[in-house]
Amino acid sequence: MRFDVITLFPEMFAPLTTVGINRRAFDSGQMTLHFTNPRDFSTGNYRRIDDRPFGGGPGMVMMAEPLAQAVKAIRAQRQDTAPVVLFSPIGQTLQHAQVQAWAASEGAILICGRYEGLDQRFIDAYVDVQISLGDFVLSGGELPAMVLLDAVARLLPGVLGDQDSHAQDSFNPALEGLLDCPHYTRPEVWEGQTVPEVLLSGHHDRIEAWRMAQRRALTARLRPDLLK
Ligand SMILES: C[S@@+](CC[C@H](N)C(=O)[O-])C[C@H]1O[C@@H](n2cnc3c(N)ncnc32)[C@H](O)[C@@H]1O
Repeated sequence: MRFDVITLFPEMFAPLTTVGINRRAFDSGQMTLHFTNPRDFSTGNYRRIDDRPFGGGPGMVMMAEPLAQAVKAIRAQRQDTAPVVLFSPIGQTLQHAQVQAWAASEGAILICGRYEGLDQRFIDAYVDVQISLGDFVLSGGELPAMVLLDAVARLLPGVLGDQDSHAQDSFNPALEGLLDCPHYTRPEVWEGQTVPEVLLSGHHDRIEAWRMAQRRALTARLRPDLLK
């Protein structure tokens, strides 16, 4: 699975492949990351990739041509039809089902915006899907790209220590898409609080039934929209 990232700041991605359990996805070669800097496709002495917006107003806009050249260069290397993804506050909010689909895909070309965003003509001509992290504005698309890559990496076989871990997580269709249940660990009493007795019973069926009831109750209370 190959992800190409178009970014002005490839150095931001270093922790993704070097820190924590997810780096296994990259160490094993299950996922590969390739970076392309649109500045390498800019022309002129100043290697500009942005300019002032037509119509006036604050900020700068990423120019279409260096981005288009970057996509073409990547396509020539990949020789596939992997979709072009733009991270943007106007996109569809990222959901677990999409992450699962990406984890079973050939990868994608991810574009990290900066400044006020990208020239709309490039978006119209090259972008297949726009993904948002939520209703807030970040200064760049690098963090959203890392969020997607992190979420995909942990779903790949052998990445998590225990293969069942992500099957038990929130939003998993195998558990009706519910929120995760509460977890407890040693000591049995902490600051006067005890652990639900059923979890100490060693009774696998009762524990599972308790966990499922907790998932349903928590989801009904915190995210009733998920029950629909
Ligand atoms: C400062 S933002 C541009 C915001 C844009 N002018 C707007 O108001 O929608 C710069 C870049 O950060 C990224 N970005 C910011 N917020 C985001 C979000 N919530 N989800 C995904 N990407 C985001 C996008 O790539 C965007 O092009």
